[in-house]
Amino acid sequence: MYTIVDKDTCIACGACGVSAPDLFDYDEEGLAEGMLDHNQGTCNVPSSLHEDLQDAFEGCPSDSIKIASESFHGDPLMFD
Ligand code: F3S
Repeated sequence: MYTIVDKDTCIACGACGVSAPDLFDYDEEGLAEGMLDHNQGTCNVPSSLHEDLQDAFEGCPSDSIKIASESFHGDPLMFD
């Protein structure tokens, strides 16, 4: 499972870092980014973090957290 944040739609609400502190951090503008792969969506998320990821996904108010079974190769809209 792979994840990436669409920083064009993130509103810096901060919820994802609370739900999944090992997966999401924030840049200097407060926009979220995936920690495992510098927000490229190329790193397979360990199964131990899948529940946190699902919580973050469901809690994002702007649907900016993307999840897929394949790598995003840096493009959050790859599977939209
Ligand atoms: Fe942004 Fe959604 Fe996280 S708005 S800060 S990606 S919960």
